[in-house]
Amino acid sequence: MSKLRVGIIGTGGIAHSHLNSYKTIEEVEVVAGCDIVPGKSQEFFKRNGFPNAQGFDSKEEMLKNVKLDAVSVCTYNSTHSECAVFTLENGLHVLLEKPMSVTLEQTIAMLKAEKKSGKILTVGFQPRYDVNSQKVKEIIQSGALGKLYYVQTGGGRRRGMPGGTFISKEKAGVGCLADIGCYALDFALNSIGYPKPLTVSAVAYDYFGKKEFGDEFGVDDFSAAFVRLEGGITLDFRMSWAMHMDTTGDFIFLGTEAGLKIKQPNLALWGGAWDGPIGEIRLMHDVFGKPTETLIPLDDNRGPGLFEKKVRAFVDAVINGKKPPIPTSQIVYNQAIIDGIQRSNKAGKEVDVVIENI
Ligand SMILES: NC(=O)c1ccc[n+]([C@@H]2O[C@H](COP(=O)([O-])OP(=O)(O)OC[C@H]3O[C@@H](n4cnc5c(N)ncnc54)[C@H](O)[C@@H]3O)[C@@H](O)[C@H]2O)c1
Repeated sequence: MSKLRVGIIGTGGIAHSHLNSYKTIEEVEVVAGCDIVPGKSQEFFKRNGFPNAQGFDSKEEMLKNVKLDAVSVCTYNSTHSECAVFTLENGLHVLLEKPMSVTLEQTIAMLKAEKKSGKILTVGFQPRYDVNSQKVKEIIQSGALGKLYYVQTGGGRRRGMPGGTFISKEKAGVGCLADIGCYALDFALNSIGYPKPLTVSAVAYDYFGKKEFGDEFGVDDFSAAFVRLEGGITLDFRMSWAMHMDTTGDFIFLGTEAGLKIKQPNLALWGGAWDGPIGEIRLMHDVFGKPTETLIPLDDNRGPGLFEKKVRAFVDAVINGKKPPIPTSQIVYNQAIIDGIQRSNKAGKEVDVVIENI
């Protein structure tokens, strides 16, 4: 069987993790890449020991010259949508980096292109492959919490301010609320079955960013939101890249029969940012009328790392004609909240979430 021919759009930092993951998969050959910085993709392949992969200075040039089956879109947030739409329209499967986009409008454009193309579009949330995150979902889906009514996505970094393209309004579009906030949203929403968001009331701040970078800093470094979800569920969201606090709290799932408290794994290192495996799962429930706490034993993640697992899941879906491992029908809700946070912060009031049916 001939190998799956893969290209990489945007050969910056995270493209290395995609390349290294594809490298481990027998059925895949990375044959091309492109970056809008002239010469960057050529240099990327040379430096990483891929002399036969061709580099180009635009996605158009790449597709004109090389036949591909699939791409990884590894550009900064603001160009995710244009790159995914372009490649879907050209009949390629797409593994898109997170967050899905900056605005809901950009996500809707991708959903339309996905539907028209019949190709796979999936978003790369590698924490989904953490066995203990999966266990949290299993516990909640088993009904052990009873009727679920409140979810808190906590965490946030005490000091974890990025630089480069992450702090530019033009390139990143959004700051911590989407960069690491999208993971916190995905963990919470996926665990409870991705209910539809209805309204968002939110604030966003940039005190630390402005102090460190001045006007170059065009996004948020702290954000909080109160989100009403379908089914009478409230989602309380907080995220930061920098603050004078170790964490804004654990993940909390409250139900009528029990609650779950999930601790961040790397409090000392990142001050509670959550973008990987989880640290502790504690079930709070009554036993014979007495409030009781049960620590759920954690499992070890076996096999490849989470990032490689996400790339492998994409390749498996493409080769074997499976459904997208992380479907856009879910992530459109994640993006609708990120979009709602930006709109609500700007408007200074609660906003409705309206999602066009595709
Ligand atoms: N999943 C993860 O663990 C993880 C980790 C880091 C970053 N990311 C995500 O990956 C994306 C990229 O992050 P990064 O750290 O690699 O950023 P980066 O700035 O290092 O790299 C992005 C590259 O994309 C290029 N680019 C932008 N628009 C382009 C276009 N239209 N066509 C071709 N190239 C284009 C830029 O020139 C740049 O070289 C971001 O969306 C980020 O959120 C994910």
